[in-house]
Amino acid sequence: MSSPKSSLQQETEGMPNFRRAKRFRLFEVEPSLGVLGFVVVTVFVICCFFYSGNRYFFASRFGLLEHQSPRFTWLRIKGSTEESRVDFVGEKGGGCDLFDGKWVWDDSYPLYQSKDCSFLDEGFRCSENGRRDLFYTKWRWQPKGCNLPRFNATMMLEKLRNKRIVFVGDSIGRNQWESLLCMLSSGVANKESIYEVNGSPITKHKGFLVFKFRDFNCTVEYYRAPFLVLQSRPPNGAPEKIRSTLKVDTMDWNSFKWRDADILVLNTGHWWNYEKTIRGGCYFQEGMEVKLEMQVEDAYKRSIETVLNWIQVSVNPEKTHVFFRTLAPVHFRGGDWKNGGNCHLETLPEVVSSLVPNDNWSKFKIANAVLSAHTNISETMKFMVLNVTKMSAQRKDGHSSIYYLGHAVSPRRQDCSHWCLPGVPDTWNELLYALLVKHEAAQRWNLEQGDRKEICSDGVIWYQILLLPIKKGVGEKSV
Ligand SMILES: *[C@@H]1O[C@H](CO)[C@@H](O)[C@H](O)[C@H]1NC(C)=O
Ligand SMILES: *[C@@H]1O[C@H](CO)[C@@H](O)[C@H](O)[C@H]1NC(C)=O
Ligand SMILES: *[C@@H]1O[C@H](CO)[C@@H](O)[C@H](O)[C@H]1NC(C)=O
Ligand SMILES: *[C@@H]1O[C@H](CO)[C@@H](O)[C@H](O)[C@H]1NC(C)=O
Ligand SMILES: *[C@@H]1O[C@H](CO)[C@@H](O)[C@H](O)[C@H]1NC(C)=O
Repeated sequence: MSSPKSSLQQETEGMPNFRRAKRFRLFEVEPSLGVLGFVVVTVFVICCFFYSGNRYFFASRFGLLEHQSPRFTWLRIKGSTEESRVDFVGEKGGGCDLFDGKWVWDDSYPLYQSKDCSFLDEGFRCSENGRRDLFYTKWRWQPKGCNLPRFNATMMLEKLRNKRIVFVGDSIGRNQWESLLCMLSSGVANKESIYEVNGSPITKHKGFLVFKFRDFNCTVEYYRAPFLVLQSRPPNGAPEKIRSTLKVDTMDWNSFKWRDADILVLNTGHWWNYEKTIRGGCYFQEGMEVKLEMQVEDAYKRSIETVLNWIQVSVNPEKTHVFFRTLAPVHFRGGDWKNGGNCHLETLPEVVSSLVPNDNWSKFKIANAVLSAHTNISETMKFMVLNVTKMSAQRKDGHSSIYYLGHAVSPRRQDCSHWCLPGVPDTWNELLYALLVKHEAAQRWNLEQGDRKEICSDGVIWYQILLLPIKKGVGEKSV
């Protein structure tokens, strides 16, 4: 079968030769006539591009996407390549890596407006705080091998009926949690039916917040635990310089509240640095022993192992779907947050990933190594990785920068780690949504195929269903 894409490629690959041949012949006859002829032919060829609907290829070939104003990128929307991709939630979408793809301009975005959402910290309300360029709200994530389902708030709320979805981690986790609150509430007409169960305001504070969607009897919760493991007072008799310790082998004391969630989204990373730990007198502890020599990187690695072990031992995979979101990169240029680092002039994504120039991805590599070792599919896999680091690294345009506060604020300090909303964290939630929808569909098909026993019996967990192609009847091929 010849796909639209391959015929498109043949056509365009043959094009330059054709053009050169024409020019050569025309010049032979008469130079001025040749020039005229060349212009006519070129115009004709360009018109053919538009007419034949190969807009996607045209746009990407001539770099309209990457380096010029996104105003022109309508050219690539709904190109033929999209139709040749399978639906992720369809029967053939099983092997698709959602996290390998690119950002494409999509005029139907954003999914909501911040002014319509009362569940947002001031610091994420960039457009209300004066940010004028809104391109950053218009990019949709397009996986290479498949198409994502369009986010549907009603459908997600139906999936969450009588359930708890819990976000745990640092303020970037909170960023994602607030994004989901806005995405979901956009599908609810009566905003009064959404409330914090203890009446707490959304403004920044420690601890946790539990928002209830009354008509769906579901809660969307956030627990602040930037390290995920337990931070506590030093043991008796510890040296003066030890003000607190991080017990890298023990979960945060709130973890019993997360354990029974139906969906659990964890993250940690931004606080694992010298400044936020040892410098402030917070050392690492294993068992009863404070390890004064332990480096932050080792403690970070150790803590992720503790978290993954906790998932294996304490979380019931039949009830709780666990996601571990990888580090969201920062984009300070020319310094860090406290000495002039900035990102406020960034208005477009970039294709080549970037982080802080002197960052060597070391923290990402640590987490990735631990996670990869535990996502070995032959081992019982009880969590799913939301592998958002690379895609988010391309979005230097997505941060709050000077717009984390109102207009009048001095731009001396910028926020190049949190994200404007609507914005990049919406995409993380769309991926979460896609995985949940997929799970349900996969389960249904497998049930139809009569594999019920296999699915429900002991070690076979839904994550495997997601990653593997769907089983088909004899004789049919799966992707
Ligand atoms: C969302 O899903 C519901 C069914 O659950 C459907 O009725 C509705 O049309 C969908 N909305 C959009 C915008 O597709
Ligand atoms: C609401 O959801 C909770 C679980 O979060 C469940 O225990 C409870 O029975 C539900 N209430 C109703 C009325 O369905
Ligand atoms: C780069 O990575 C090494 C570990 O591989 C680490 O020791 C070093 O501090 C890192 N440098 C920077 C600038 O992050
Ligand atoms: C996440 O994606 C990167 C590529 O972007 C890959 O190298 C890495 O192995 C992935 N990590 C996990 C845990 O899946
Ligand atoms: C996965 O785990 C199995 C058994 O635990 C082991 O034999 C295999 O080598 C592992 N594969 C990878 C890629 O780590």
